[in-house]
Amino acid sequence: MNKVINIILLIVSVAFVGCVQGDKPNKENEVIEKKIEALIRKMTLEEKLGQMNQITSYPNIEDLSNLIKKGEVGSILNEIDPVRINALQRVAMEESRMGIPLMMARDVIHGFKTIFPIPLGQAASFNPDIVEIGARIAAIEASSVGIRWTFAPMIDISRDPRWGRIAEGFGEDTYLTSVMGVASVKGYQGDSLNNPSSIAACAKHFVGYGAVEGGRDYNSTYISERQLRNVFLPPFEAAAKAGSATFMTSFNDNDGVPSTGNSFVLKDVLRKEWGFKGFVVSDWASVSEMISHGFAADAAEAAMKAINAGVDMEMVSGTYFKETPQLIQQYKVKESTIDEAVRDILRIKFMLGLFDNPYVDEKAPCIFYEPSHLAAAKQAAIESVILLKNEKQTLPIKSSVKTVAVVGPMADAPYEQLGTWIFDGEKEHTQTPLVAIKELVGSSVHIIYESGLAYSRDNNTQGIAKAVAAASKADVILAFVGEESILSGEAHCLADLNLQGKQSELLEALSKTGKPLVTVVMAGRPLTIEKEVEQSDAVLYSFHPGTMGGPALAEILWGEAVPSGKTPMTFPKVVGQIPVYYSHNTTGRPANRTEVLLHNIPVEAGQTSLGCTSFYLDAGFDPLYPFGYGLSYTTFHYGAPVLSATELKEKDVLTVEFEIENTGNYDATEVAQLYVQDKVGSVTRPVKELKRFMRVPLKAGEKRTLRFELPISELAFWNVDMKYGVEPGEFNLWVAGDSQSGSSVSFKVVL
Ligand code: BGC
Repeated sequence: MNKVINIILLIVSVAFVGCVQGDKPNKENEVIEKKIEALIRKMTLEEKLGQMNQITSYPNIEDLSNLIKKGEVGSILNEIDPVRINALQRVAMEESRMGIPLMMARDVIHGFKTIFPIPLGQAASFNPDIVEIGARIAAIEASSVGIRWTFAPMIDISRDPRWGRIAEGFGEDTYLTSVMGVASVKGYQGDSLNNPSSIAACAKHFVGYGAVEGGRDYNSTYISERQLRNVFLPPFEAAAKAGSATFMTSFNDNDGVPSTGNSFVLKDVLRKEWGFKGFVVSDWASVSEMISHGFAADAAEAAMKAINAGVDMEMVSGTYFKETPQLIQQYKVKESTIDEAVRDILRIKFMLGLFDNPYVDEKAPCIFYEPSHLAAAKQAAIESVILLKNEKQTLPIKSSVKTVAVVGPMADAPYEQLGTWIFDGEKEHTQTPLVAIKELVGSSVHIIYESGLAYSRDNNTQGIAKAVAAASKADVILAFVGEESILSGEAHCLADLNLQGKQSELLEALSKTGKPLVTVVMAGRPLTIEKEVEQSDAVLYSFHPGTMGGPALAEILWGEAVPSGKTPMTFPKVVGQIPVYYSHNTTGRPANRTEVLLHNIPVEAGQTSLGCTSFYLDAGFDPLYPFGYGLSYTTFHYGAPVLSATELKEKDVLTVEFEIENTGNYDATEVAQLYVQDKVGSVTRPVKELKRFMRVPLKAGEKRTLRFELPISELAFWNVDMKYGVEPGEFNLWVAGDSQSGSSVSFKVVL
């Protein structure tokens, strides 16, 4: 990590403790609570409901001001003009009866102006520091226009790359997502919410959204309580403990109950079990959408169900404000429930310091795209790139290479490489691979650019011949393919994950030239690229890398940086394998190495002659790439892990020492991963679970002995009696460079 990043890290280093999670009251908290009570005593019911009402901004400022003056609005989303933000805050502070400031909210998901890689790409870095820095920079830029609340991080576990929103999360793994979610919360909220450059985080979507049936957005989920608790809830619990100021409910219904009306998760788990003291906002119109779900007959019932379930603020559908007065008269909602919600909202407004200073400095110098922000975004992009294949050491490109053909629709697509959720990103500030490569190599390499296809879905094959002609003149072909940004993200799901348009044809034609073919995929999700990998000599996977994706890729291609990213999700060979993820439960007939594939099956084979285990005859049991996988320009050798003890009790800490050696010729960083398997449980257990990881920088030839520490208490899970605890018995443990490598050592947990 370079100097700039270290300095930023120092600036953002965090001391924020979970002050909205119900820790011991201190003086400051007591003062806030007193102020909240004083306000609640004076507020009318309408003013309270106003605090629970979030609206989206619109151009007519007089109308907006009138609503605010009457105390009908607690928060506005999508207002980003500092002058208007100050004007609206002034109305709230000076012209409304209670003088309560507004919370200005915006989806700042992977950067405000300086766009970092999409969260799935950031997850590939396995580097929580870079995630924290990204969120800090996003907060600094967004707060400079008056935004004090973002709807991030998204910490939905998903094992289905058809789901477009896979781009917004940290992948398939519960532990990795928990670590990255916490880093993100810390980055947004800084050392104190009160700092004007801090913005409130929002852990979303609570909960289970990533398991939508068939990967179709907004769909139903059927997650059992045990799976919910073992897989989907831990990242949210970690975010709550890290002090996430707010939570957002999800659109899905789980086993028939929409999250926005689910008091089990919102009250029993979030409030009672975890002691969360922030507030919960609905998703966009997810209160009124309970009518479409067929879970509420009308707006009044929807409002009643959401309020009683524990949703404190309603995003845009306005049913709370209209319907609650009659619900109270009819004893369907208690006024004390409203008071509780308002307390939670006001608490966050106080903690953000909004009562003391709701205004933003309109004249402050612009800090968008500061050099340190761009440097951090580039570092994040570098660390998020995954090297999937590198035959005959095609990469990095050697100095003997004098002519390079740059082709493909993603080589110079400044908007597309930013990825989804970039409301405020600007393609004019994006540095594409084509531009960055030219800048990096200067006149020493002749670059011939022929895109071949105009955009990723392009079916017009006329340009392919020109791309092939360019390739024929070159020493190396760099083909940038993938997905446009619109193909992933909310509501942008796909049933087919092959490369869109004629990109496969383009790659096939390029491979036929016999020239070394380097394929760079820029996408919002894992795509099914088995054939294209075979046709390429080297493959780099870059989840939409953001503003600085170009320089990051150029440096990796020419060896000024060495790839270190690892897959944050399993890559399927074909869509039909989905869901395919590494930490699946052990079946009674696990797939083993004797898979028989379609072409090997003799005609009229006997029914049981193929072995009866769990795999597809046409796709086998292995994915294209397992979770945690990624190559380097160098190679690493792992020694066998040495355990501090082979018999441990629940309160012990297991120390795992291992040797790791850089056995190649490049200084590089490896992501060492520790996996555990609980061999026998009161319920079936995953074949492996990630428990620790670390980025290990090693000079060429360097060998180091490193150590992981794993408290045995972290082997706990929700057992057959739905109790959380560690069960005694035998465990396997691996330390390796991905979820499929390494040999195991074992230890025992005794009571
Ligand atoms: C999305 C949320 C987002 C909200 C506000 C919804 O459609 O599901 O993730 O924060 O809109 O823009």
